[in-house]
Amino acid sequence: MPELLLENVCYQYKHGDRQVVNGVTCRFEGGKLNAVIGPSGSGKTTLLSLLAGLDQPSQGQIRIDDEPLSDLDLDQYRRERVSMIFQAFHLFPLLTALENVCFPMQLNGIPRDETPERGKALLASVGITEDKYIRYPANLSGGEQQRVAVARSLATGAQVLLADEPTGNLDKANGDKLIEILGGLAHERGYCVIIVTHDPGIAERSDKVWHMSDGILTEHHPALS
Ligand SMILES: Nc1ncnc2c1ncn2[C@@H]1O[C@H](COP(=O)(O)OP(=O)(O)O)[C@@H](O)[C@H]1O
Ligand SMILES: [Mg+2]
Repeated sequence: MPELLLENVCYQYKHGDRQVVNGVTCRFEGGKLNAVIGPSGSGKTTLLSLLAGLDQPSQGQIRIDDEPLSDLDLDQYRRERVSMIFQAFHLFPLLTALENVCFPMQLNGIPRDETPERGKALLASVGITEDKYIRYPANLSGGEQQRVAVARSLATGAQVLLADEPTGNLDKANGDKLIEILGGLAHERGYCVIIVTHDPGIAERSDKVWHMSDGILTEHHPALS
């Protein structure tokens, strides 16, 4: 199972006046649903972008399965090992649900004649019914769009799923369904799932809860609070 190890990770934006991520040391394990909660501006999205390899720490190190990200080809890392899910879904508006899911497979060199079958299986696995495969995102509900986004994030075979406020635009029923899917991916299929959220309900359903405050991440132990 995948594992992300952070050692004293710091990050300061180019024109920023402080460390937005300030010495984070932690381990995110596969098979677990992790929730990162904390106030707006505390550095949660910045931390995710470092885990996603979109940016590099100004100090410290991130390792995936013992390999420092700084030794990896980050384009390949982003294509094959991590996937992101966003609050605003970010599906390609001019591609159908199925085409959205197949697109990353094509980027990763999976033969074109194999992608539709795989894509359909992924859509089915997140509860999207067949009649919706050829719909454009604008003709899907928010809950459906987010589940298509999850199917797309699985299409590359990446084992680390990073979700930034994934239920922020969903009603409670759809939010619950999404968390159930993400939990299943962690518990049944060994994914390392990290969800940034404001929602205490998600934290309650997670295996590990982390608090971000002024760039500092601490593990939350309910029994001690
Ligand atoms: N591109 C940027 N340049 C400078 N500062 C930024 C940039 N993006 C975010 N910040 C600042 O970094 C801090 C942390 O932001 P962010 O990681 O988005 O927090 P969160 O996701 O917890 O709300 C905030 O003070 C924010 O204003
Ligand atoms: Mg944020």
